[in-house]
Amino acid sequence: MKTVHTVADLRALVGAWRANGERIAFVPTMGNLHAGHLHLVAEAKTLAERVVASIFVNPAQFGAGEDFSAYPRTPEEDAERLLQGGTDLLFRPEVTEVYPGDLATMTYVEVPHLSDDLCGHYRPGHFRGVATVVCKLFNMVQPDVALFGEKDFQQLAVIRRMVADLNMPIEIVGVPTVRENSGLAMSSRNGYLTETERTQAALIFKTLQLAAGELKAGERDFAELESRYTQQLREARFSPDYFAIRRPADLMPPRPDDREFVILVAARLGRARLIDNLSVRIEPNP
Ligand code: PAF
Repeated sequence: MKTVHTVADLRALVGAWRANGERIAFVPTMGNLHAGHLHLVAEAKTLAERVVASIFVNPAQFGAGEDFSAYPRTPEEDAERLLQGGTDLLFRPEVTEVYPGDLATMTYVEVPHLSDDLCGHYRPGHFRGVATVVCKLFNMVQPDVALFGEKDFQQLAVIRRMVADLNMPIEIVGVPTVRENSGLAMSSRNGYLTETERTQAALIFKTLQLAAGELKAGERDFAELESRYTQQLREARFSPDYFAIRRPADLMPPRPDDREFVILVAARLGRARLIDNLSVRIEPNP
């Protein structure tokens, strides 16, 4: 595996592969890699001859007072994991390589509506930062296909919309969430949890499963479900930002006759803000 830090070196290597007729898959990350990221790399290998991964903790997607400085950075372990996973090229730029200009006056990519709700409501500007860096990374790598975890369901929706709206010739692949045995979705931010909190954090997925069961059983009072499960999380000493039932296609509130739902949750526990989601499909009666 080669590691490069500049766009020029990245383009030289990727350009040579492309000239050779090879397909390029891209896995953008912020590092501190876990089994979920390695699953993205493994999937990427099935979709292209070459896999490029990036590690860049993107300042533009962190708000004031968020964990940009504290975000776990484990470069050596990450490089080893990517190598073991069969990555061909690691792009690990400095902030000045990605943002040579002033963050306050540069061009941003905005995906309105989808970016404003749910996590966007609690983290204003977050998805503008995500869309912008993903757009820039896409322009740098120019992949054929890019893979993202479904754990960040809203992020994936924002990226799909950006790619569609801006006619980017890139296939976006969502990869199912990798969970610990307890059901806790793998996340770099799980490292903020104490041992007791980690056990308690498994309740997030349990509430999603319970709510999914109720939807499957025919419950359609979405507001009541949302407030009841929010309350359950509060009683278990989480500080929930939201527990929301939405339509997966556009993240809008569902109608009772919809057949596809996604239940999304964001809740704080100790130092961690945890997010998770579960999709529910109602099969037609035989
Ligand atoms: O999901 C992440 O790790 C980040 O939001 C991403 C997509 C790499 C952009 O910084």
